[in-house]
Amino acid sequence: MGKTDMDVSVLGFGGSEIGYQRVSAKTVARLLGGALDAGLNVIDTAECYEDSEALIGKALGARRREVCLFTKCGHSRGEWRADWREEALLRSIERSLKRLRTDQVDLVQLHSCSLAVLRRGEAISALEQARAAGLTRYIGYSGDGAAARWAVECGRFDTLQTSVSIADQEAIELTLPAARKAGLGVIAKRPLANVAWRYARKPAEAYYQEYWERLRKLDYPFLPGRGDAAVKTALRFTLGVPGVHTAIVGTTKPDRWRQNAALLGDGRLPEAERERIRARWKAVAPPSWEGQI
Ligand SMILES: NC(=O)c1ccc[n+]([C@@H]2O[C@H](COP(=O)([O-])OP(=O)(O)OC[C@H]3O[C@@H](n4cnc5c(N)ncnc54)[C@H](OP(=O)(O)O)[C@@H]3O)[C@@H](O)[C@H]2O)c1
Repeated sequence: MGKTDMDVSVLGFGGSEIGYQRVSAKTVARLLGGALDAGLNVIDTAECYEDSEALIGKALGARRREVCLFTKCGHSRGEWRADWREEALLRSIERSLKRLRTDQVDLVQLHSCSLAVLRRGEAISALEQARAAGLTRYIGYSGDGAAARWAVECGRFDTLQTSVSIADQEAIELTLPAARKAGLGVIAKRPLANVAWRYARKPAEAYYQEYWERLRKLDYPFLPGRGDAAVKTALRFTLGVPGVHTAIVGTTKPDRWRQNAALLGDGRLPEAERERIRARWKAVAPPSWEGQI
């Protein structure tokens, strides 16, 4: 994964859904246990995804060393209450280690702070201190747009986590070429655009609405079929984007990881198909379709 020593599975696990949807510890144990047995070795979570860290820590138990474990910091008092001060970030990382039942994570990421916060430097030095103290092996930025671009170019991060999917392609030109050049590890978040096309009507959940609207306008010919075929094309598209090392799909379902891994059996999308998706995006997407946090 970039210049890091991590050899990651292309399909990872995104830990927000298990937290926000209050999935039981028993189900998470089944979900992660089955995925690990089948080859998963990337787990991403955050300090503010409700009980996600604790659920993952409990489910992993003695299998901690089988995975690359990523978390984030910046909202230690809840999703809507950011705190980018050094002391708060370091405290949050210590708490993440306790919840994840480990003495060191593989990666800690700044959880989508603004460009102004990045420029101030205090948040980045907090992560550097955490790395120097051995709390994490690597440090990264998770976010999009101009802030992500700055994070790539500042030379202080090991990884970038950013939105990449059929409904979110800004990063393909804005940040990923620079990330590749700099040797950063790249984690694609929201890699299935939340499968927003599964909703016949505009979903009530605000988080899904932007992608749902975009996908209606993009009107990709492979979406009306829905089901596995559409997921297969969408996931293969994301993983075929140059620079992307792993795609962290969120799920609440124990069988999903194995199902999605099977959809990747044919490898990357053929170039012509990939080009058609890119061309459609370029023809339809206005500049306002920025990377979604
Ligand atoms: N700012 C940030 O740092 C940030 C922001 C957003 C996300 N993230 C990270 O990125 C991860 C992934 O993002 P996400 O979960 O929002 O988006 P996603 O992975 O694009 O979509 C997840 C959704 O797709 C569904 N899904 C997965 N496989 C499917 C399949 N084969 N068929 C039908 N539905 C399927 C899941 O439903 P089921 O439960 O039914 O499987 C879930 O609702 C998060 O967990 C988090 O770790 C980070």
